[in-house]
This record gives sequence, structure tokens and C-alpha cells, in this order.
Amino acid sequence: MTLTFTPLHPLFAAEVPNVDLPVLTDPTVLAEIRAGMEQYGVLVFRRQPFKDEEQLEFAKRLDGTLHTQTSQAVLVKNRLGTEALSDISNVGPNGEILPPNDRRRMGSLANRLWHTDASFVSPPGRFSMLSARVLPPVSADTEFACMRAAYDALDDDMKTLTTGLKVHHSIAYSRETLGFEFTPAEKEKLKGTVQPLVRAMKDGRRALYLASHASSIIDWSLAEGRLLIRDLMEHATQPRFVYRHHWQEADFIIWDNRTTMHRATAFDDKKYRREMRRTTTLDIEATTNA
Ligand SMILES: [Fe+2]
Repeated sequence: MTLTFTPLHPLFAAEVPNVDLPVLTDPTVLAEIRAGMEQYGVLVFRRQPFKDEEQLEFAKRLDGTLHTQTSQAVLVKNRLGTEALSDISNVGPNGEILPPNDRRRMGSLANRLWHTDASFVSPPGRFSMLSARVLPPVSADTEFACMRAAYDALDDDMKTLTTGLKVHHSIAYSRETLGFEFTPAEKEKLKGTVQPLVRAMKDGRRALYLASHASSIIDWSLAEGRLLIRDLMEHATQPRFVYRHHWQEADFIIWDNRTTMHRATAFDDKKYRREMRRTTTLDIEATTNA
């Protein structure tokens, strides 16, 4: 073992010092990171000055195929030139801070809802990797929730009830809860997909698979499904399951979308620039989970 994992929370999340990810190619160390991801779900690496191309290449070395449908790809053109690199920023094509009513800015407000990346498409996202390029002088944090611990803490009746349930996820639904409207053509592109409510992981543990994109439970009434989803979201996001990350310049965080949820916290994005880049890999095995 060459890497050190320093826990950041009693239940999950660890910091990994002394590794230089943009140039990391050693298969043994990459395997240690994968093992760390399985154990901790969220890994924080400080001082990783990634360039765009380096981040794309690292994501492929770590976890295979890149996801290209993780966010607003069907609605807004990506200024970075590839849909595999998500532009998590409040900056327009000429480097200007987006105006308050800009559609991309409004859409990115939805990142403040608890979610897991790309649960609304199949396959969904497996690992997401977020690189901090430009940070505001005020807190603009990201919170993570441990969905394995949340599952473990359910009582036996709830574990039985949730077993085998299927959930419809749609990005149109999560955005509509914030008042966004879509044209019929856009809605057709954003139909969403069905995911298991509980996911079995290779380590034998189970995780609640939830997001604000979760719109209904298959074969349940809309009201009862949404109430169960709401109850489980409240359960899973209790402070005891949440790690809050305060970003430093050049931080790089990898999270497992199968075992965690996350959300951005509010800051004055009309005043301060914030630029992050995200790569996400495809969860090709998702369809085999039940
Ligand atoms: Fe996200």
C-alpha cells in the first residue's frame, strides 16, 4: 500500500495526500484509488492542478468510459468543446459571469438539490470527478451524503419495503420542482429512466439510490411514491450522514454516484466567479443491479 487514506467523517469520505493525479499512470496506485473509492465513496485530493485534457485522460485511466449526457447537454451547448467535460461554472463563452436570467445559470441552480449524477439516463454516472479551477472568496461548498450508512440505518420494515422497488428518474421533474418549464420537444428528450431504489454493492453492502430527479415509484400511486421518496431523502440527508467540503484552489474530489448523493451550497454567483470541471464515468454495470 503506497497511499494513505485519512478519514474526513466517521462514516465515509477520506483525504488522500502525496499523489500527483494528472501524471499518475501506475496501475497499482490506480487500483488503490479504486479500492479507496469502494471503501470511502468520496476521496479528496489537494493541490491537483489539472488541465482539461489531463482531467479527461485521468478519468479514463481510473474508470474507463466517460459519460457525455450528465447535465444540460441536450439543452445548452458546452463551451468547453466536449460533452465529456462538464462546465460546472457561472461563466459564459467570453469569460463573463452569466447574467441572472441566463438559462444555463438557472439550470445550474438545480445543483443545489440533493442528487446523484445522471440517474436520469441509462447507464447513469459511476464516478464523478470535480476539479476546482477558480473559486470565489466566499464559501461555495459541496455536501455529500453517505447512502450506504443511510440504508444501514433503516429499520427492518423499511428495508423490506424498499427491496425490489423501481424508481423513475427525470431531470425535467427535478427542474420543474424549481419552476423551470420545458417545451414539448425538450420534454421528449428528457423522458428519464428507471433505476432500482436500493443498489447492492460488490462489498455486500446496500445503498439507497435516490436523487431529486426521483419522480415516482413504479406501480405505486404518484402520491404514495413521492411521499416515500421524500421520507427517504429526509432520512438520508440527516447531518450525521453528511460531509461538507470547503473547497481550496486545485482541489480534486472523486465521488461514487452509486453510494452517495451530493449538492452545491448557495453563494452569490451573480457577483463571484466559480469555475469547476467535472468528468463522470459510465456505470455500465448498473443494468445488472436489482
Ligand atoms: Fe452533480
